[in-house]
Amino acid sequence: MKAGCLTLFPGMAWDLSRIETAPRRACPSAFRVVTCGPVWKGLQVAIVFWLYGRSGAGKTTLANLLCRDLRERNRPVVFIDGDLARSGLSSDLGFTPGSRTENHRRVAEVARLVSEQGITAVVATMAPEHEQRDRVRQVLGDRMVWVHVEAPLEECLRRDPKGLYQKARAGKLNLLLDYPFDPPRPGEHDVVVNTASASVEDCHHHLLAEVLRRLGERESATRPMP
Ligand SMILES: Nc1ncnc2c1ncn2[C@@H]1O[C@H](COP(=O)(O)OP(=O)(O)O)[C@@H](O)[C@H]1O
Ligand SMILES: [Mg+2]
Repeated sequence: MKAGCLTLFPGMAWDLSRIETAPRRACPSAFRVVTCGPVWKGLQVAIVFWLYGRSGAGKTTLANLLCRDLRERNRPVVFIDGDLARSGLSSDLGFTPGSRTENHRRVAEVARLVSEQGITAVVATMAPEHEQRDRVRQVLGDRMVWVHVEAPLEECLRRDPKGLYQKARAGKLNLLLDYPFDPPRPGEHDVVVNTASASVEDCHHHLLAEVLRRLGERESATRPMP
């Protein structure tokens, strides 16, 4: 039996680190389960692939292709797109740095819940400042992989898939052109996809190869002992 785990049925284990002692009065057995739910052997915490980059860099395009590929491989995956989170989960938030960070915290918490069910999560947000990236990392730790979807501002202005830069230029949206985009710090990201110098197809294949490699590595590391 793995240290810290109590096996109840073949293939199922309770994680003892999730059980804490409680006063005998409250719980005669002296133990209280604080987090419900078994930890299934071989179904450990899944990876969160977090695509970040400027508006128009290609995050949503690549994330959709990646999710399609993973589903075709019978791998459960949840896609959380920043734009959609903004219209529901974080519809009460504005765009101050603090609000952007709170938005990222919420999305990261959702991704954490998903990954704890053994489901791969793919997230796409701008995460423009270090503050947001640091907050996300704080919530997700080592279970996450940062993918920088990189394209220079001039290319994003040219593409402008949602017309946001045009609105910003017309003064209807003062957010985007002034938007800071902190350059990644050395070693910050795990994967880089440069969408200005390669086609959608090439970027997609590069990303898929990186993702499959990491999923394979994680699974061989957590595969239960025979
Ligand atoms: N190599 C590439 N990878 C991804 N998207 C690309 C690439 N080259 C051009 N594009 C185009 O850029 C646009 C990116 O839009 P989108 O995916 O919505 O960006 P984001 O989600 O980052 O704001 C799409 O119209 C897409 O077809
Ligand atoms: Mg998008």
